[in-house]
Amino acid sequence: MAKLWAGRFRKEVDEKVNDFNSSIKFDSRMYKHDILGSIAHATMLGEQGIIDKSEADAIVEGLNTILEDIETGKLELDMSAEDIHMFIEAELTKRLGDTGKRLHTARSRNDQVALDIRMYLKDETDEIIEITKNLINTLCEVSSEHTDTIMSGYTHMQRAQPITFAHHIMAYAQMFLRDIDRLHDTKKRMDSMPLGSGALASTTYPINRARVAELLSFADVTKNSLDGVSDRDFCIELSSTIAILMMHLSRFCEEIILWCSWEFKFIELDDAYATGSSIMPQKKNPDIAELIRGKTGRVIGDLVTLLTMMKSLPLAYNKDMQEDKEAIFDSVDTVKLCINTFTPMIKTMTVLKDNMRNAAAKGFINATDCADYLVKKGLPFRDAYKATGELVAICIDKGVVLETLPIEEYKAVCEMFQDDVYEAINLTTCVNGRNVVGGPSADSVKAQIKEVLAQII
Ligand code: ARG
Repeated sequence: MAKLWAGRFRKEVDEKVNDFNSSIKFDSRMYKHDILGSIAHATMLGEQGIIDKSEADAIVEGLNTILEDIETGKLELDMSAEDIHMFIEAELTKRLGDTGKRLHTARSRNDQVALDIRMYLKDETDEIIEITKNLINTLCEVSSEHTDTIMSGYTHMQRAQPITFAHHIMAYAQMFLRDIDRLHDTKKRMDSMPLGSGALASTTYPINRARVAELLSFADVTKNSLDGVSDRDFCIELSSTIAILMMHLSRFCEEIILWCSWEFKFIELDDAYATGSSIMPQKKNPDIAELIRGKTGRVIGDLVTLLTMMKSLPLAYNKDMQEDKEAIFDSVDTVKLCINTFTPMIKTMTVLKDNMRNAAAKGFINATDCADYLVKKGLPFRDAYKATGELVAICIDKGVVLETLPIEEYKAVCEMFQDDVYEAINLTTCVNGRNVVGGPSADSVKAQIKEVLAQII
């Protein structure tokens, strides 16, 4: 394809250099945003009298037809073009002749690409917010059914204190809520319209930047032309937000993988969301969860790519910045793929309540409650802690648990123990006693679910 900038050059660019330089293979996905941006630009040029109104109209119509032709498959993208921006402009000129050549008045590809990525990523951010809401909704649904499902909470991967499955799942809902908050925040800084920055030093034409921002639904315009073309903070911020979200997903996946193991058997994945082994007939593997855990690595890699690519770049545009796209597009694609696969996997899994309850019955997870029982009877906490520790040691020696240790043994350690200790250390009592805001009691978790659901409408 002939270069639109060919004037200054005496030779065709080397074919390998052309391939090396070209970004159309990965930036063609922005065709729609590029066209919409150009439509707004041409409209403004016409309104300002910078080009003839009739020519502006012809450009707008021509661009709309190109959009339609790409979407219906009538127009094929030329993969030897330098980038999507050049391809569309050249196509317009092919169709409109000299009128098409007027589109690029008062514009540079530098502000054009800055605009296109912002527009594209604003839409993608909205989509990620939507699917994350959908995920949270599923977590609330699953949790609603398990506010009484006792399980052990863990610290150091050791059984620690009794909670419910709902409480555990809702912890992830809180993480994803914060992710949504970060996505909104990231979008705020994406929402400035850079067109009018030109190549770096704006333009001498009497353009109306606010009008272009209005036509494209941007909240504001960028305030410095050098920054307008060379800022990629919004890519880095989005990538970082996605990396955090993926980190949350990977923690969740790690637990799913553990819970599916025969060692835990707290859940069973639906057959549609697990895979078999080529040699071991008994296997049902949590491949999806493992893949999400693995893909978190490459999303973190994308963030490092972007930061390293931007580090030390002088103002303003440098071609290095073309490398932003593959990294941020990969982050966006990966997170969407992961959320959209993870959500139905969670929705369809079976929770093996009895196994959770049985695991919770071992491990002395009510020991803190046993100590608290003595504290409520007046003993200082440290003494109560020591007495309970002695009881746990006795239980281990005898191969019993606190619930089945005879009352005489309790009394031998501390006289303050009465028969009501058994009620105090009952796991359901222990959970529902933790009725503070943010606690695991059924009432607290129900309130939490309600609050979370209210935040995602
Ligand atoms: N394909 C380029 C990119 O993605 C467009 C901007 C090119 N500008 C330039 N002066 N070469 O960054």
